[in-house]
Amino acid sequence: MSKKIKLRIWRGDAKDGALKDVEVEANEGEVVLDVIHRVQATQMGDLAVRWNCKAGKCGSCSMEINGKPRLACMSQVSSFAEGETITVTPLRAFPVIKDLVTDVSFNYKKAMEVESFTPPVGLKAGEVRMAQVDVERSQEFRKCIECFLCQDTCHVIRDHEENKKSFAGPRFFIRLAELDMHPLDILKNRKQKAQAEHGLGMCNITKCCTEVCPEHIKITDNAIIPMKERVVDVKYDPVRWLGSKIRKR
Ligand code: F3S
Repeated sequence: MSKKIKLRIWRGDAKDGALKDVEVEANEGEVVLDVIHRVQATQMGDLAVRWNCKAGKCGSCSMEINGKPRLACMSQVSSFAEGETITVTPLRAFPVIKDLVTDVSFNYKKAMEVESFTPPVGLKAGEVRMAQVDVERSQEFRKCIECFLCQDTCHVIRDHEENKKSFAGPRFFIRLAELDMHPLDILKNRKQKAQAEHGLGMCNITKCCTEVCPEHIKITDNAIIPMKERVVDVKYDPVRWLGSKIRKR
C-alpha cells in the first residue's frame, strides 16, 4: 500500500542553499533513501545524494534526518509519525559540495595521521597466537563502516571548525584504541600520542558518538574511556615518576 509523504530537502551548494518542500509516494517497507531516489527520478533530476550499498554497510548515505545524523538506507519511513514532515539535510560538520553530499576528506586526512599497525620485525605466520579475548576486543572496533556519523555529531568539531586541526574524532579514537590494545603492535606510545597529537583530552565523554553509531560500537565505554584511563595510569604511575626523578639526577 502506498501513501503520500511530506519531505523537506536541503538544496544548494557551498555558497547558498534552502529547504524545499515536496510530496512523494512512499510504499510499505521503504526507507528514506528510497523516497529520496523517487524524488530524484520524478521531481528533482539534479538532486545530489551519495549512496552505494543500501544495506547499512558502506557508510555512504550519511545525512541528517530531522536533525539527527543517520543512514538514509536504515531509516524506515514508517518510523516517522503519520503526517510528519521528514527533513533531510547534509552532515553539518563537513563542507557541503551539493545538496545532500558533503566533503568528508577531513576524515581521510585524520586517518593518514594514525600510524599503521606495526608488528615485530621478522615475525612469521603462525609464530604467535593471540588470545581469543584480545581478538574479540578489537573486533568490535573493526565493525566500523566509516559512515562518519560519530564525527558529525561530536560537538568538539560540529560547532567548532577551529578544533578540527587538533582533534581526530571518535572514529579515530576507536582505531587508536584498537591498535593500543593489540598485543602484537610494537608502537607502545599510542595512548600518549592519542592524548598529545590526536586530541583525546578534548573529548568530554558526552557519548553522542556512541548513540548515533549504526554498528552499535560502544565507542565511549569500550574505546575512549579505557584509553583515557591508561593515559592517566602512565602519567601518574609512581614507579615511573620515581624512575624519571632518579634519571634526572
Ligand atoms: Fe565527542 Fe564522543 Fe567524546 S561525541 S566528546 S568523542 S564521547
